[in-house]
Amino acid sequence: MRALVTGGAGYIGSHLVLALLEAGHQVVVVDDLSNGHLEALRRVEELAGRPCSLIVGDVADRPKMVSALHGVDVVLHLAAFKAVGESMTNPERYFRNNTGGLASLLESMVDAGVSRLIYSSTAAVYGEGSLMPLTEQTPPGPDSPYGASKLLGEQMLQWMCRCRDLRAVSLRYFNPVGAHPSGRIGEHARTPSNLVPRVLMALTGDVPALTVFGADYDTPDGTCLRDYIHIQDLVAAHMVAIGLLERPGYHLYNVGTGRPSSVREVLDAARRVTGRAVPFVDGPRRAGDVPETVADPSRFRQDLGFEAKRDLDEMVRDAWRWWTQNPGGYPE
Ligand SMILES: NC(=O)c1ccc[n+]([C@@H]2O[C@H](COP(=O)([O-])OP(=O)(O)OC[C@H]3O[C@@H](n4cnc5c(N)ncnc54)[C@H](O)[C@@H]3O)[C@@H](O)[C@H]2O)c1
Repeated sequence: MRALVTGGAGYIGSHLVLALLEAGHQVVVVDDLSNGHLEALRRVEELAGRPCSLIVGDVADRPKMVSALHGVDVVLHLAAFKAVGESMTNPERYFRNNTGGLASLLESMVDAGVSRLIYSSTAAVYGEGSLMPLTEQTPPGPDSPYGASKLLGEQMLQWMCRCRDLRAVSLRYFNPVGAHPSGRIGEHARTPSNLVPRVLMALTGDVPALTVFGADYDTPDGTCLRDYIHIQDLVAAHMVAIGLLERPGYHLYNVGTGRPSSVREVLDAARRVTGRAVPFVDGPRRAGDVPETVADPSRFRQDLGFEAKRDLDEMVRDAWRWWTQNPGGYPE
């Protein structure tokens, strides 16, 4: 099979490209390198022992995309901006790149006669105040332009599946963490806002202490609960979802574990894995944080037998290996 991965030089994309190469597929990556790394793809090729093709460019570049799509069986569309906070101050940038980028990609796919697509969506399409766990039937209600830009993408896909011969799967990722077990590829987060990289920074002394944003939530230990999923499980979900494209129409799945972890539980896992206590201070709640986000992953399990296997310790262990072997991330 020939797969085209947009955003393949990014965090999730690089792990996905590796899995596709390891499964024997031909892979074309399109990435404008706005947040991707050539070094990530170099390492992916080294790990796989096989090359992929890289086209440096924007998914909205129609002539370039139509030519890149030649002979492609399936598109995995990951290219997007993903910073929720930045989307509040620069929403038009998110609508242009995330929603507009997908609209343009769909036009190029129609022109090139490519009709199968996996789409990276997000738990950010759900809104604050939703009942937990979140099922695919939970009414969406994004709290940010980022979430809205992704939800609009899902809606476009639904219509394209109805009106055109498109087959598409939207995967709503919960909180991807961890890294490839080799420690060679991982998330290059320079100013991370996510918990696990911030925990690692506190452990390596890059910051004096981790601030726990709110310890007075109505949760068992007072800290926020999130549904973390190991990047390798997330990648495995894509490999399963590709099989779904044998069936016509539009498909939508949550991709999480269904087992939420609190901030304190992440700190405990970090202590178990590294043998060191994470220096932390309890701080005030952070604007926009909700007490709990957890997926109901049962639809994916029932339809396709997919279940995330890796536990929190493995997520933190693999993230720690990547972090300590690559201080500062990929070399620029
Ligand atoms: N990481 C998360 O926590 C998370 C959670 C839910 C959903 N997602 C979604 O998963 C996808 C991948 O996320 P990630 O964490 O790997 O992000 P990332 O920033 O590491 O990767 C995205 C890649 O897309 C590229 N890109 C962005 N705009 C582009 C464009 N117009 N043309 C070509 N390339 C472009 C960037 O250079 C980057 O390499 C995104 O769609 C994101 O919204 C991520």
